[in-house]
Amino acid sequence: MNDVKQVIEEKITQLKKKIAESIEKVQSSDTLYQIKMKFLGRGGELSEFMKVMKDVPKEDKPTIGAVINALKTWAENEFSNLESTIKQLELKAQYKTEAIDVTMPGLTKPTGAYHPNTLVRRELISIFAGMGFTVFEGPEIENDYYNFTALNTPKDHPARDMQDTFYITEDLLLRTQTSAGQIRVMEKAQPPIKILSPGKVYRSDDDATHSPMFSQMEGLVVDKGITLCDLKGMLDEFARKIFGNGVKTRLRPSYFPFTEPSVEVDVSCFECGGKGCRLCKGTGWIEVLGAGMVNRHVLEGCGVDPDVYSGFAFGMGIERIAMLKYGINNMKLLFEGDTRFLKQFKG
Ligand code: PHE
Repeated sequence: MNDVKQVIEEKITQLKKKIAESIEKVQSSDTLYQIKMKFLGRGGELSEFMKVMKDVPKEDKPTIGAVINALKTWAENEFSNLESTIKQLELKAQYKTEAIDVTMPGLTKPTGAYHPNTLVRRELISIFAGMGFTVFEGPEIENDYYNFTALNTPKDHPARDMQDTFYITEDLLLRTQTSAGQIRVMEKAQPPIKILSPGKVYRSDDDATHSPMFSQMEGLVVDKGITLCDLKGMLDEFARKIFGNGVKTRLRPSYFPFTEPSVEVDVSCFECGGKGCRLCKGTGWIEVLGAGMVNRHVLEGCGVDPDVYSGFAFGMGIERIAMLKYGINNMKLLFEGDTRFLKQFKG
């Protein structure tokens, strides 16, 4: 009888030693967990050991049971103490490796800048939106009718020579002017009409101040009782907003087939205040856009009664405005995409 008890006690001592040895050098909580499962987990060495209880003689059961329980409690305590020590060490190590140096300079990403054309287009839209204009964008590939015929410029009209046109077919072309948008709007809408039409236009032209592709901003106002004075007043406001408060406008007679009368609009030189300088070539004035009262033939052609309604239209080159506003002397700079030029417009 005593033999069984002795054997079991011996085994318990060994198991205790085994547990103590296997956790002695453990450094990670993962390994510790695996060892814990090996001894204390379901089917682990300790629970297997419990099975020997059935061989223990009845009178020894209480003592042996108590010893086994003591071993279990001891083992549980060992594991949980070690667990918290290891966890703390691991946390410390983690704090060390993941530490953030708040004084380190941040990673900067290079930012772009808006193209001067975009800046001017947006500024123009915002100025005119403030006067009640909405934006209409027409197609860049137009047919002859919208680009010319409906704008009172039928085939063989000498004014077609004012613009060197890129034809795609006999009837299709790359629009030479955003004025084509006027027709598309008037065809669909009845007055009052107040639209802006920005977009790219194309002409076979290429030098320091001309590019085969450039952008225009068209404006059209049609309503009862619209006069040239309305045009002048609105242009004054536009000139002050875009070039500065002291700037005035002046109208000179001109010719466009779709406006009558037609005018060329100058602004007083914002560089010299009108005294004459290099920018205004000594004249005190700078030409900025073409405009006029919508020709009655054009209104009629779009189904707008010219005896009831009148209107004005204007068109300006966005690149030209950008060059004047930012002092850019070569139009090519606006198309080359050189970042040394473009980044100057960061703002
Ligand atoms: N479309 C004309 C041009 O490109 C400009 C313009 C627009 C003139 C509207 C009068 C009215 O030269």
